[in-house]
Amino acid sequence: MSKTSKETFYISTPIYYVNDIPHIGHAYTTIIADALARFNRLRGKDVFFLTGTDEHGQKIEKAAAEKGVTPLALANTVVGRIKDLWKALNISNDFFIRTIEPFHEKGVQKIFLRLKEKGDIYKGTYQGWYCVSDENFLAEDVPLQPEGDKICPDCGKRALLVSEECYFFRLSAYQEPLLKFYSENPGFVRPPGRMNEVVSFVRQGLKDLSITRTTVKWGIPVPDDPKHTIYVWFDALHNYLTGAGYDWDLKKFERFWPADIHLIGKDILRFHAIFWPAFLMAAGFPLPHTVYGHGWWLKDEAKMSKSKGNVLDPHVILKTFGPDPLRYFLLREIPIGVDGNFSHEGFLHRVNSDLANDLGNLVHRTLTMILGYQKGVVEAGDDEQENDRAIREGFEALKGRVSELFEDYALSKALEEIWAYINAVNKYLADNEPWKLAQDGTKKQRLARILYQSAAAIRGISYLIYPVMPGSAQKIWNLLGETKAVAEEPYEGCRFENLRTGTKIQRPSPLFPRVALKDFLQEEVPSSAAPKKEERMDIINFDEFKRMDLRVGEILKAEKVPGTDKLLKIEVNLGTEKRTMVAGVGDVYTPEEMVGKKLIVIVNLKPAVIRGIESQAMLLAAETGGKAIIPFFDRDVPAGAKVK
Ligand code: ME8
Ligand code: MG
Repeated sequence: MSKTSKETFYISTPIYYVNDIPHIGHAYTTIIADALARFNRLRGKDVFFLTGTDEHGQKIEKAAAEKGVTPLALANTVVGRIKDLWKALNISNDFFIRTIEPFHEKGVQKIFLRLKEKGDIYKGTYQGWYCVSDENFLAEDVPLQPEGDKICPDCGKRALLVSEECYFFRLSAYQEPLLKFYSENPGFVRPPGRMNEVVSFVRQGLKDLSITRTTVKWGIPVPDDPKHTIYVWFDALHNYLTGAGYDWDLKKFERFWPADIHLIGKDILRFHAIFWPAFLMAAGFPLPHTVYGHGWWLKDEAKMSKSKGNVLDPHVILKTFGPDPLRYFLLREIPIGVDGNFSHEGFLHRVNSDLANDLGNLVHRTLTMILGYQKGVVEAGDDEQENDRAIREGFEALKGRVSELFEDYALSKALEEIWAYINAVNKYLADNEPWKLAQDGTKKQRLARILYQSAAAIRGISYLIYPVMPGSAQKIWNLLGETKAVAEEPYEGCRFENLRTGTKIQRPSPLFPRVALKDFLQEEVPSSAAPKKEERMDIINFDEFKRMDLRVGEILKAEKVPGTDKLLKIEVNLGTEKRTMVAGVGDVYTPEEMVGKKLIVIVNLKPAVIRGIESQAMLLAAETGGKAIIPFFDRDVPAGAKVK
């Protein structure tokens, strides 16, 4: 049953919960997986790239109830949003698994029965605490709070006390086999620090695991005992088998199983590095090669999470930039093992400097010179001199190095090296000053050689960035007059001299938009004129609403922000204090008419800097036809009064 050749590559992402729409964190895992899948396809491997959704369990049941919809309706909506996002990010998954699909449910039930017959599943009673947000049974040593309950040590949410009949999985029996497996396969959990974490956890002792619930209805029924539903993690982890064809497309399954890499965030390491291999050992499946636990994207130093509500919506960036700058940023900014803080400033800075400046300029000036000096035709020019050869050989060396780094999942380092080469080519142009050679009729051949090296380097660079920025790579190839798809060229066959002389190139338009921070932030600020929230499906509860501190504000002063069409700087009296805010309402209201008016202001929103001015509050307004209309009070109310 096990895979005999290395001609296949099976990579998976976690299957995401459908309690809410995905954010940058989910995009991150999926983008890493996509880049690795695309790279392996270039290497000629038969790739199976699996992603999907985790749709059962108490967390979804609860989220649906809170939104007043059925779990299935919630799942269908969110699945649609997730698929749309993967499309917008140019994700090339080969299959999308939903755990509500019958083939998955049947596969899970079959494995459940197999373990039960084997004696690895037995009936008992579970007494203990359960975290719904993490779908996790708390360890017994988590201390009781003074109020008599327990707080989940992972997410900080209040746990539920559960006492019910259930089936257990004999996890304790796998403690020694797991430890043996880890020591024989030190690369099973990566990066290495995470392996140490797992080993020491298992060494402390494993207890049997409750794998069914009677108080959760939204789940796969236990075969022959349907008052129990299967615990969502026992259900979800098996997606990696059923999604690959177990046991409905055995040919496919035998071809791809076991997985080369299960890519996950470090939040779900124990489920994947302990439970999952134990389930597989019990059922007799070969174990996956690697579980890679990547780091977290943080927002203001806290993990971005749907449950916390501090998430960034990737659509905001996608709208302005398309997928490639975001894909590049996420993979380049941090090595995949560590945490990173996501900021729009950091994003813009990197995109402007690496993409617009380094790569964008290289492409633009090379192509513009070929158009200007050679009527757009690539010519070979004179023989290579030493510095020309360095560019060609530099590419061949880079290609080997990038491949090694990709094999090692060191994507950030691979991009770093590609950019070092881009800058070497930029320096080569600066040193050789082709624009000066063009003034001298006797230097035409020398000029042609320099432009050839530069264009051939660009062709190679585009090839190497293809796994990370597939759209841009193809665009650059097309500009170079290349008609085939980048992905059609096998890795071994990608040579510097594949740029054919005589090729006619296209006139370039800027590849990457250069966006100024102040304009981007202006877009980003949820000002009265930005209707971003309206496209979201979130239903909030009253406690969440109460977190907003809304007040009556009296406008003391208003003035236009210089150099903008509609931004007004407004000073507002909140009773006990004055604050400054910036709002995009100057196309509807004049500063004069605003003074003295009273309106609703949210005062506990994180301040944002807009055009160099700190906006310390935000006014509420209706958005219609791109204009913001402010509801002013029509009776007298004191400034600072609470609005609720
Ligand atoms: O855990 N930074 O689903 P989930 C980086 N259904 N990655 C992040 C992230 C962040 N701030 N937030 C989320 C589940 N992720 C289960 C998985 S698998 C059999 C079942 C990514 O919707 C990261 O990959 O909570 C993390 O492991 C995953 O989303 C959790 O997604
Ligand atoms: Mg989670």
